[in-house]
Amino acid sequence: MRMYDIIAKKRHGCKLNDEEIAFFVRGYTDGSIPDYQASALLMAVCCNGMDEEECTSLTYHMMHSGDTLDLSSLRNTVDKHSTGGVGDMTSLVVTPTLAALGLNVAKMSGRGLGHTGGTVDKLESIPGFNTSLSMEAFLDQVREIGIAVIGQTADLAPADKKMYALRDVTATIDAVPLIASSIMSKKLAAGAESILLDVKYGSGAFMKTKENAAELAELMVKLGKNAGRNMGALVTSMEYPLGRKIGNSLEILEAVDILRDGERSDARYVSSELASHLYSVATGTGIDESRKLVNETIDSGRTYEKFLQWIGAQGGDPEAVDKRQLPLSPHRFELRSPVDGYIGSADTEGLGMASCILGAGRTTKEDVPDLGAGYILHVSLGQRVSHGDLLATLYTSDVMKMAPACNEILASLHITDEKPGKLPDLIYKFIH
Ligand code: URA
Repeated sequence: MRMYDIIAKKRHGCKLNDEEIAFFVRGYTDGSIPDYQASALLMAVCCNGMDEEECTSLTYHMMHSGDTLDLSSLRNTVDKHSTGGVGDMTSLVVTPTLAALGLNVAKMSGRGLGHTGGTVDKLESIPGFNTSLSMEAFLDQVREIGIAVIGQTADLAPADKKMYALRDVTATIDAVPLIASSIMSKKLAAGAESILLDVKYGSGAFMKTKENAAELAELMVKLGKNAGRNMGALVTSMEYPLGRKIGNSLEILEAVDILRDGERSDARYVSSELASHLYSVATGTGIDESRKLVNETIDSGRTYEKFLQWIGAQGGDPEAVDKRQLPLSPHRFELRSPVDGYIGSADTEGLGMASCILGAGRTTKEDVPDLGAGYILHVSLGQRVSHGDLLATLYTSDVMKMAPACNEILASLHITDEKPGKLPDLIYKFIH
């Protein structure tokens, strides 16, 4: 078999078979296929697409290019994946809720990059919280309390890692078959029986329209089902940050607002919908009954108890969380509205970048985030504001970062004279 022929076949719009896809993934991972041939094939896929069968093969071979987690000693394992958002702390509500309902959450989570946050960074803002458990300790903790979340230690889907880096510099990120196979190869390698995907759309997501996000979600659900998993996906809005607290320790505090203090917010609504759909997908319970169970679990404080138990089990200080004694960066600034008007729309990616500028995120994988940096956004989409009203409270350890972050927020909040029409749907669609 020759890579040249595989590239030519896809360039002519023909379908690749499983052997050809396996040959490409194996050869590119072990270095026998050079970057220039791999990028030619990826570009041909961008132009001519791949059908479900080809994507299933690509996902399978990428998934098996490295370690896969064996969770077979646990029953009813569940996982949730977000395609990345701003102020998106839903995992902190969804996972302890499902554990409190008797399911097993054995989750490998990512770190933040660019304008989006990552669950591992948020958890590490809790004093003492350890996200690098050994595999044995990780599985034991799930057996004992139903939940453990760690950073990516295993070498999951190395073919995807190499291919993603190549796609990033050859303008080949933006193709639904490649994105779907990339995400699902890692999710499937992480081993859970049931998976709920939160596919974001809007100005803070990499899928800008809900239709494109739904197309991606549909394909990912099919890929998961073809691998024998219980699957569902919600397409949700990232036209505005989901939570009002943006930053690592700040997002833990937002989870406390919801779980301990019963705050009813967009973040609470989307979190409980994600938890309900995942519960339904994993157990076969109807969605109305699942919603009832999930909301009772959150409202009764059982999720909060499980949240604190989980924090304690991973070496974190539950009392510090309960007393809201998490690190916040020392320099604080109140940003006020320069004009009268309405919050008409937002560049949510810019609002995520503002948190990154304050030090909360990474622009490269090597950056070390300031876990106490970020900001509280005091205004919602559609809200009326007057000159001098508080828009945001910012926190940073480097006072020089304050002015650029304020400018980024002001440029990203579009304050209009006209009251905006219908606000975007928080949840567009459930796909299963
Ligand atoms: N995230 C991924 O993991 N892969 C993609 O291709 C795009 C986003």
